[in-house]
Amino acid sequence: MLKVLVCASGGGTNLQAIIDRIADRTIRNAGIVRVISNNPGAFALERARAAGIPAVCISPKSYETRELFNEALLQGINEAEPDLIVLAGFLVAIPQIVVDAYPGKIINIHPALIPSFCGKGFYGLKVHEKALERGVKVTGATVHFVDGGLDSGPIILQKAVSIPEGITAKELQAKVMHEAEWIILPEAIELIAEGRVQQDGRTTHILPEQEREGQNT
Ligand code: GRF
Repeated sequence: MLKVLVCASGGGTNLQAIIDRIADRTIRNAGIVRVISNNPGAFALERARAAGIPAVCISPKSYETRELFNEALLQGINEAEPDLIVLAGFLVAIPQIVVDAYPGKIINIHPALIPSFCGKGFYGLKVHEKALERGVKVTGATVHFVDGGLDSGPIILQKAVSIPEGITAKELQAKVMHEAEWIILPEAIELIAEGRVQQDGRTTHILPEQEREGQNT
């Protein structure tokens, strides 16, 4: 059983998608051991508690320096002994000490098709506003490994979403969540739990599914 720790700053709909896919056994080989938020008011914390998952807030505002916060975050992660850290709308730049402690074990969901509309300044609604401004006809979501850069790690899964005429940025944000994010994030977790994601330098390979014993039991 892959022990997953989820970091989330806001509404936690991606966290909810993971919780739901574990409940309905789409994710069969992983469980969430802890949720961490930097924001005491994050609804993600409520969602975790409602699902019986230990949830804690580790806020930069509670520490005198960034270094002390970084160490507290690392400690909060270490305590749960996770096999995988999932950044699901975590609005804190993940500290290098965490990346170094968990190489190849941190993934992030980004609401665009990387390398489009990613990197500095591309977060939240801004990503969708920029996509509409540029007039692209297709956008989507990307799950990728975190390597210390901004949205720069090896890509695991991507899913495209069409952009209809006249859609607003808010509507597009919801469409990308429904049609892409809530699907590929749980899917990536299950693939990793099954040992089917192989990193190969800047890219990844998805290995074919093996026959699983007792699949229907
Ligand atoms: C999502 O759009 C995700 O792609 C981005 O932040 C948002 C988080 O939404 N990184 P939620 O908290 O999961 O509802």
